[in-house]
Amino acid sequence: MNITVVGSINIDLVYRVPHIVREGETLHSTSHSIHFGGKGSNQAVTAGQLGANVRFIGKVGADAFGEQAIENMESKNVRTDLVGRQGSTGQAIIQVSDSGENSIVLFPGANFLVTPNQVEQEMDVLRTSDALLLQLEIPLESVTKAAGIAARAGKTVILNPAPARELPDELLRNVTILTPNETELKQLTGIDPVDEVELRKACDVMLAKGVGAVVVTLGSKGAFYQDETEFGWIDAVEVEPVDTTGAGDAFNGALAVALCRGDSISEAVKYANQVAGFVVTKMGAQPELKAGF
Ligand code: RIB
Ligand code: NA
Repeated sequence: MNITVVGSINIDLVYRVPHIVREGETLHSTSHSIHFGGKGSNQAVTAGQLGANVRFIGKVGADAFGEQAIENMESKNVRTDLVGRQGSTGQAIIQVSDSGENSIVLFPGANFLVTPNQVEQEMDVLRTSDALLLQLEIPLESVTKAAGIAARAGKTVILNPAPARELPDELLRNVTILTPNETELKQLTGIDPVDEVELRKACDVMLAKGVGAVVVTLGSKGAFYQDETEFGWIDAVEVEPVDTTGAGDAFNGALAVALCRGDSISEAVKYANQVAGFVVTKMGAQPELKAGF
């Protein structure tokens, strides 16, 4: 199975704190670590470690972080021959609180240099892979370009609309599966999915825009999916959260793998939930995934 990821690569500078820092407050961090991250990279290494042939289209900086990020992705079964090197590598400054919640300052760096032109040059790769995985940490025009190319070739396009923002209809009609969390779904539809009725209404809005299916990740409440014919809930796996960073990205990477191997949407969501549940129990966004998955 061939999966292409078009997206972001970051270095995550992670600071553990008793609580997320408040405005004007000086807070002592109890530990600091550097991890590989970026929503695109997190999705890609998940799919790669779960056995997919993954190719990445993106950019790192022409710096040591960029070098290390490439090495890391290659070591986790992701081909990086289409990753350019320019400017400085993206960085995420992440606070992780003792309760496992996070808060992120993002410096996009080279990720913002992933142009529609770079994407277009790899048209053949997008047309021939089984699925395309997308997120929103590169310019929106580049995301839209990639989705259009893959959709016209009849491929599965999975878009994780994170970080939250409004999206053009031109992009949404080319999306096979949209995977927002509650906040992102609200931002996209104006509907606060407080209960199942509102959740279904919000999903209907997205389906009416041409999205093939919506999978909403709801943290400890699990995940909800809906398409033209069915809807359902998948429970979250019960875990002690250590660091939720990257859980959503792992969910998307695993979802792509499951769908490519022919799982139904409910089976795929269940599998993705299990993988994401594991990532939550480890520090960093890219823990090693055991062969058991
Ligand atoms: O989704 C988690 C990711 O978001 C982190 O790895 C960080 O790089 C930010 O981009
Ligand atoms: Na984690």
